[in-house]
Amino acid sequence: MSEKLTVAVIGCGRFAQFFVPLFKAHPYVEKVYVCDLIREKAEEYKERFDVEIIDTFEEALANPEINCIGNFTQRHLHGDIVIRALKAGKHLYSAVPMATSVDECQEIVELVKQTGKIYMMGETCYYYPCAMYCREAYKEGKFGTFVHGDSQYFHDIDAIGYGKTPNEAGMPPLFYPTHSTGMILSATDSYVKKVVCLGYKDTVNDGRFGKGTNEWDNEFSNQYVLMELSNGGIARVTEARRIGYKSPSSYISGFYGTDGSYEFSNAQHLLIERISARGDDEVMKVTDVSDYVNSSEMTYNKNDPEFKTKAASHEWQWDVFSPVQQKEIDRLPKEYDGLPNGHMGSHKFLIDDFCKAVYNHKHPIVNAWKAARYTIPGLVAIESAKQGGVPMDVPDCGEGPKD
Ligand SMILES: NC(=O)c1ccc[n+]([C@@H]2O[C@H](COP(=O)([O-])OP(=O)(O)OC[C@H]3O[C@@H](n4cnc5c(N)ncnc54)[C@H](O)[C@@H]3O)[C@@H](O)[C@H]2O)c1
Repeated sequence: MSEKLTVAVIGCGRFAQFFVPLFKAHPYVEKVYVCDLIREKAEEYKERFDVEIIDTFEEALANPEINCIGNFTQRHLHGDIVIRALKAGKHLYSAVPMATSVDECQEIVELVKQTGKIYMMGETCYYYPCAMYCREAYKEGKFGTFVHGDSQYFHDIDAIGYGKTPNEAGMPPLFYPTHSTGMILSATDSYVKKVVCLGYKDTVNDGRFGKGTNEWDNEFSNQYVLMELSNGGIARVTEARRIGYKSPSSYISGFYGTDGSYEFSNAQHLLIERISARGDDEVMKVTDVSDYVNSSEMTYNKNDPEFKTKAASHEWQWDVFSPVQQKEIDRLPKEYDGLPNGHMGSHKFLIDDFCKAVYNHKHPIVNAWKAARYTIPGLVAIESAKQGGVPMDVPDCGEGPKD
């Protein structure tokens, strides 16, 4: 039986503002509440979005009218918020990451199994055009068997929109691995079995990273993980918070198979395919697929004399769709036409996924099992880095139901 949604959005910070209008406009949603520990933030949302305030998270849990929680709190709070909400019988949409401990991730998966509630992690990069392109091309067999891929989330701490307090800013970068892992693991249709990680000890003495300077005693501003995947391939995932690079912040830079490859730099996406027999004289065909993968606004501006500089500075990449996203655009409700979007057009797909999952009672694509597979490798890799790169096995919560 279908179930309409009444959603309490917990956390009225910088990120949730993009999602309240999308929850409100979705045809399966009856009502949206907002809530923040800081009352003025909830009041501001109330005015801006014409929604009601629910005073506390605990009141939202106790209110039988509310069947869904939208978790937009700071990332080290996610495990606790999600676990309490599932125990209270709510469906969950949670911003990334799933949680910041392996135990919490495993408990969330178990609670979803026990309660039958819907859990979705709002991984924006699942719908990033480069990830969609690699998924599509890999499924079509353009690369042959997967060999190796590189994905990264580069976000300099001074430019980052969240976690601005010195303590939050100093968190291990791999508390937040899901943009990188979500892209490369979904594209390779695999999960991580083993990790080896090294950390870059921060050299800028600004009170964020270093022993004794944050709650996590974390000295690494950047972490580099080699991952052995279930399909035998290798991924290299980088989470960098001190880096002279801006856009796109999350991307697959290379995806290599036995017969073909994908490479990306600045705004150029290339498909490289072997079109002859293997051997000394083999012939590789290069196809520039940039117009298919870049946003239509980038393509429209590609002859701008400052194009590369503007692309590297994040122009044209926030809320405009790319041709590779067309199939997903077609399934969006008409109520979304003209509403603001974000993160390479992903916000609308995510909220639509969640609303349909609850309404139809079918687990969404980025369900608890996938969220665990995207989050846990990063948490294990933090320990590997602390021990100077010791290889570590990654626990797996399984595939999850195939609905
Ligand atoms: N691309 C992405 O997927 C992406 C981008 C940005 C942020 N995020 C995630 O979104 C989350 C929120 O980021 P942000 O920048 O909005 O953070 P923020 O610090 O601006 O906002 C978080 C808000 O949650 C409130 N809060 C915390 N605990 C609460 C509770 N128990 N009850 C009510 N309110 C509570 C805080 O008071 C704060 O206002 C983070 O987890 C971050 O990881 C994801």
